[in-house]
Amino acid sequence: MIVLGGSASTELADKVAKELGQKPGRIEVKKFPDGERYIRIHEEVMGQDVALIQSLYKTPDDYIFEYMVIADTLRDMGAANIIGVTPYLAYARQDSRFYPGEALTSASLAKMLEAAGTTSVLTVDCHLHRLGDVSKVFKVPARNLSAMPALGQYALKTLKPKNPIVVGPDEEAEQWAAVVAKELDAEHTAFTKRRIRKEGETESKLELDTGPAIFKGRDVVFADDMISTGGTIAQAAKACKKKGARRIFVLCTHPVLAEGALKRVKAAGVLKVVGTDTIPSPVSTVSVAPVIAAALRSR
Ligand code: R5P
Repeated sequence: MIVLGGSASTELADKVAKELGQKPGRIEVKKFPDGERYIRIHEEVMGQDVALIQSLYKTPDDYIFEYMVIADTLRDMGAANIIGVTPYLAYARQDSRFYPGEALTSASLAKMLEAAGTTSVLTVDCHLHRLGDVSKVFKVPARNLSAMPALGQYALKTLKPKNPIVVGPDEEAEQWAAVVAKELDAEHTAFTKRRIRKEGETESKLELDTGPAIFKGRDVVFADDMISTGGTIAQAAKACKKKGARRIFVLCTHPVLAEGALKRVKAAGVLKVVGTDTIPSPVSTVSVAPVIAAALRSR
């Protein structure tokens, strides 16, 4: 198998290739002065399986286009299978039509990736809360991996929380809190979140129900798929502090980190945020390369 990294994920592709005991495939991506891309694949891919790693963060439309051109070129060059590894799958949150006429962008993206030649998909802690599983979005085989066991192990060995309680800041995050709690041999709980979004607005107001007061004197470890604005975690952290929590740590797979997000969560009393390299960021301490490599190895 050839491991190829798009420009969103060159470092991650290097790490995945290393885990597999090989060198990453050579690919050249340049930009012309007018912003158009030049792409050249320096590998013989005829009859080969290619894992194309491209996380779709920050400038997703740009990275999606690049992914599609690379996949299309690989197909033209005769690649046998194109495994699309999109650790952060953009647009996953747009999986329902809340108001008439809204685009189901997650479904549109899946169709586009397939049309470009993708024969299967791997992603990590995908945010498809309403659909439940990434395999429901794609027609080709699609699998969701999780960074939570690795984040939990990191917390155990490095953060060493005392008398910890693992908390999912909303109902959907309960699944991730449960995995981290298992690694820490701790109990877990989840808050209830209601987002109120008025028609015509992209920002929503949050209402959190934080349940019984079981935080006094304990270290709280939040587990969530992503931190975007930091609003959810900030609100949840303040509630735990109010209820007497000691130190507060946050584990998240995708540090989307909109401007001011880290400042917001720190100001709410969070001591440390630990994320992964699905999105390169100042808190991307844990790598998802081992879990991706294991999935590629076991196909
Ligand atoms: C929500 O369902 C997600 O799991 C995250 O909690 C949420 O997307 C984080 O967004 P923000 O940081 O903007 O509150």
